[in-house]
Amino acid sequence: MGTTSENGVILVTGGAGFIGSHLCDRLLARGREVVCLDAFTDFYDPRIKERNAAELARSPNFHLERADVCDESAVSAIFARYPVSQVVHLAARAGVRPSLADPVGYERTNVRGTLVLLEAVRRKAVRSFVFGSSSSVYGADAEAPFREDMVHAQPYSPYAASKRSAEHFCQVYSRLFHIPILCLRFFTVYGPRNRPDMAAFRFADAVLRGEPVTLYGDGSARRDFTYVSDTVAGVEAALAWNGEFDIVNLGNARPVTVREFLGVIEDKAGRKAELRVLPPQPGDVPLTCADATRSEALLGFRCRVSLETGVENLVSWVRAIHRELDH
Ligand code: NAD
Ligand code: UGA
Repeated sequence: MGTTSENGVILVTGGAGFIGSHLCDRLLARGREVVCLDAFTDFYDPRIKERNAAELARSPNFHLERADVCDESAVSAIFARYPVSQVVHLAARAGVRPSLADPVGYERTNVRGTLVLLEAVRRKAVRSFVFGSSSSVYGADAEAPFREDMVHAQPYSPYAASKRSAEHFCQVYSRLFHIPILCLRFFTVYGPRNRPDMAAFRFADAVLRGEPVTLYGDGSARRDFTYVSDTVAGVEAALAWNGEFDIVNLGNARPVTVREFLGVIEDKAGRKAELRVLPPQPGDVPLTCADATRSEALLGFRCRVSLETGVENLVSWVRAIHRELDH
């Protein structure tokens, strides 16, 4: 991996969030110069993102731009200020279930925001554009394992539809303006700094506190849980890719049931969960399962972190947060 000057500046949108902050960490450790564009939205407590950004700001190669990705003039100004050579676009409204309550808000950030960024990239040539898409685009009826070319995929929530639409815009811009674009479909990412609305955080937090765990449905829904450092390694590999346009899954290819996932959390926490069972939630799909053939062929992508180790790290991190809050 080269140094700052060889590779130019990399723009990470959503860089103060869960996956984005891990990615920025990794890029800074490689000696890259990183510009983080983030609006510190209140989808969850913005102090969590402030804390991520403050840690990143210890590096002189980290530049923070507080801006809305939908704001055309702010985005243009960032491209004017820095010699951006690569973009990783992660800024989004990210929850599946909350998208049913605010489809217009999801469309704005996830579709319009992507389009604003693509327009900026069109005017200022970049070496590559990596888009953080989602396994949710496969919907509820896709045959497992999910292959990227399953064109019959039927999104099942406004969030999923927004991500699929953004993929379409990426494809159009790549084709019309010869921008190298790789769309990565992430599969339920978990680990330290986890988004607090996701099962991984909610389960570990409740079990460690001895509070009831809310289970949507009977726990038989399956997710291809992917540890965050594996996802980040896939994004890094995507930055070295040399194609025109592609869509690639970044998933573990080993789905487990939500109940099994909770079981590993119980083991690592040394405590049994008390369950509060609610009906399955609209927008949720029964299964996600990546076919990893393409990611391995194109990116040499392979998940290295086992569920046991990943959950152990997650639980240790939630424990550390609890200790901090108690002091
Ligand atoms: P996150 O919410 O922690 O990060 C998203 C970041 O984007 C936040 O810091 C937020 O402040 C910022 N943001 C939101 N709206 C913005 C706007 N209008 N302008 C600028 N910044 C804005 O979520 P995450 O889990 O880290 O997800 C990162 C990306 O990966 C998202 O695009 C998400 O859809 C996608 N993704 C996540 C997962 C997962 O399991 N976490 C799985 C599939 C896809
Ligand atoms: C996750 C991310 O939140 C999305 O940003 C991402 O796009 C998506 O993965 C993806 O793979 O593309 P989701 O799978 O819904 O979405 O992640 P969780 O919120 O962790 O939910 C996982 C499962 O646990 C779901 O079946 C959900 O119903 C269940 N769950 C969640 C509960 O039973 N209880 C909870 O408190 C939370």
